[in-house]
Amino acid sequence: MKRNKSVAWQRRAASAPGAEGKQIAVVGGTGGIGRALSRHLASLGAQVTVVGQTFRDAGTPGITFIQADLSLMREAQRVATELPAQALDMVIFTTGIFAAPQRQETSEGIERDLAVSYLNRLVMLHAIAPQLGTRRVQSAMKPRVFLMGYPGGGQIGTFDDLNAEKSYKAFPVHMNTVAGNEMLVLDAAKRYPSATFFGLNPGLIKTNIRDNFFGKDSLKSRMAETLIGLLTPTADAYAERIVPLLLTPDLEGHSGAMFNNKGQAILPSVGLSEAHIRQFMAASEALVARTGVEVHAS
Ligand SMILES: NC(=O)c1ccc[n+]([C@@H]2O[C@H](COP(=O)([O-])OP(=O)(O)OC[C@H]3O[C@@H](n4cnc5c(N)ncnc54)[C@H](OP(=O)(O)O)[C@@H]3O)[C@@H](O)[C@H]2O)c1
Repeated sequence: MKRNKSVAWQRRAASAPGAEGKQIAVVGGTGGIGRALSRHLASLGAQVTVVGQTFRDAGTPGITFIQADLSLMREAQRVATELPAQALDMVIFTTGIFAAPQRQETSEGIERDLAVSYLNRLVMLHAIAPQLGTRRVQSAMKPRVFLMGYPGGGQIGTFDDLNAEKSYKAFPVHMNTVAGNEMLVLDAAKRYPSATFFGLNPGLIKTNIRDNFFGKDSLKSRMAETLIGLLTPTADAYAERIVPLLLTPDLEGHSGAMFNNKGQAILPSVGLSEAHIRQFMAASEALVARTGVEVHAS
């Protein structure tokens, strides 16, 4: 990953004002990195709405829950209407899985990793972006959207068989979700000037994300996560490091920027041309439309 020297920000003291009273939605905030971010932001005084399948923070002050199965596009559409978009200062998308060794399909006919790690974000982002933060009382900063994935890693995706119906391999399918998320950031930054959009690349963090690939609680999964745990920061350590980035006023003029695991700006993947993004997005929207849900990109 190459550093982007044109984007810089200053880490402020933990006591600096920032999170207090902010309205934040963390889609995927029930587990892993999203949960660590939610808990940390709530501890700093933010009002956090988490979206996921299993709520693990009942009773934690500042955290409320919307339950949803985001492998389904109609659920993504419902959540978009239930989120208080007009009051939100920030939305963080962290929902994700890793593609299974054998192709899995949702009841709406979509390859499961693509649905959970990428397409539900496409649906939600376009549904809420135009209204984000429009009814906030204090609005020193534009509303912010962070998409977590693996931006800057060189993945640009292929869109001729997005649903992996002709052939299926776990790694390329997951890389399409990675590329899709990076493109969502670049596309939304151009489309919606009333908000700002950023990509987050957390590097490797010990969570449950690889369960679907190795098998939940399998020996392989436990060995992989133990190894990753020995070599990499915890989700809590990453959250503590990255939350000052999420809140800094210095990002205001840099919509479309991407950041590595240390919060340093990185360049987008080479090859994400406007034409490629347009075609990838058109293929993504056409696939979502098969479920009866329309993507409203305005
Ligand atoms: N961990 C890493 O090493 C790593 C590396 C690079 C990028 N990332 C990216 O970081 C993000 C977060 O990953 P993570 O490691 O924190 O993963 P994780 O621990 O597995 O957490 C994933 C989150 O997604 C939610 N989720 C999964 N399937 C869902 C579904 N069908 N409906 C609703 N929610 C669902 C989970 O909620 P429930 O538990 O409630 O189902 C959980 O909140 C992802 O975008 C991932 O691609 C992670």
